[in-house]
Amino acid sequence: MPTPSANRHQGKVAIITGSGQGIGRGIARYFAQEGAQVVVAEFNKTNAEEVAHELSAFGVEALAYPVDVSDTERVGQMVADVVAQFGKIDMLVNNAGLSRPMPLFDLTPESWEPIIKVNLNGLFFTLQTVAKQMVAQIPDEVKQAGRAPHSYGKIVNFSSVAGRSGRPYDAAYSATKWGVISITQSAATYLAPYNINVNAVCPGLVPTPMWDNIDKVQGQKRQGLQPGEWMQKSIEAIPLKRAATPEDIAAAVSFLCSSEADYITGQALNVDGGIEMN
Ligand SMILES: NC(=O)c1ccc[n+]([C@@H]2O[C@H](COP(=O)([O-])OP(=O)(O)OC[C@H]3O[C@@H](n4cnc5c(N)ncnc54)[C@H](O)[C@@H]3O)[C@@H](O)[C@H]2O)c1
Repeated sequence: MPTPSANRHQGKVAIITGSGQGIGRGIARYFAQEGAQVVVAEFNKTNAEEVAHELSAFGVEALAYPVDVSDTERVGQMVADVVAQFGKIDMLVNNAGLSRPMPLFDLTPESWEPIIKVNLNGLFFTLQTVAKQMVAQIPDEVKQAGRAPHSYGKIVNFSSVAGRSGRPYDAAYSATKWGVISITQSAATYLAPYNINVNAVCPGLVPTPMWDNIDKVQGQKRQGLQPGEWMQKSIEAIPLKRAATPEDIAAAVSFLCSSEADYITGQALNVDGGIEMN
């Protein structure tokens, strides 16, 4: 199992969206163990506060910030509040995401909309707002020189293996996760002159509340399987023959946020035990 590298993110400030549970919570714990000050930017206030409390045990400053990432005004307020408290933002992990699996024919404009709103609008405008702040943090003389001497920020967006191939029972979700890869490439190119790195990760199967729901809808309801059976069958199809842990994903995200990844930008990294190989 991957283990955090002590001090890797010492003195750095990270906003991690959707970090109240699941993968985001794992990343928040991992980053805190690597010395980062973490903003738990999360829709569920109770979970945000619980995670922030948990992180303080690692000796770092953690801020619970209840936010709906699709509320652009609130995201703007969050960025201003984070800068007021911590003085800067070094890393953004755009992890918050929504999945509502259902057969393709059952999708309506009403069920399509919230997925797009969170996974695309929310992710894009959070990236845009934080990136503007990262650019504002670059000294004027560096901007005038036209090329930054070192990285001035790291952004990691959450795509999925569903952003690599279509999903008949999660068409809206899959569309957004393909879109995340496009946003990543656009932003990486736009922000390259500032040496701000933008990459995406594409996780495979991580047992979280999101996957519990996939098991319920696709396994239990659609195929009459027992709880957990669809997840198990899906795990058997993974070349490495196991599900990912949140730490598997956190280790990849942490690497992309580190100086070791200064020369990596615009990439979408599969972290999936070999499900997708392109
Ligand atoms: N679990 C997997 O197997 C898997 C696979 C591929 C990609 N992903 C992606 O990884 C990310 C995390 O997934 P997870 O499995 O931990 O999901 P999860 O549903 O268990 O947790 C998602 C978290 O995001 C928060 N959130 C949702 N909408 C929000 C909003 N509008 N504003 C702020 N917070 C919001 C939720 O409250 C929750 O705490 C998602 O982007 C997901 O699409 C997950």
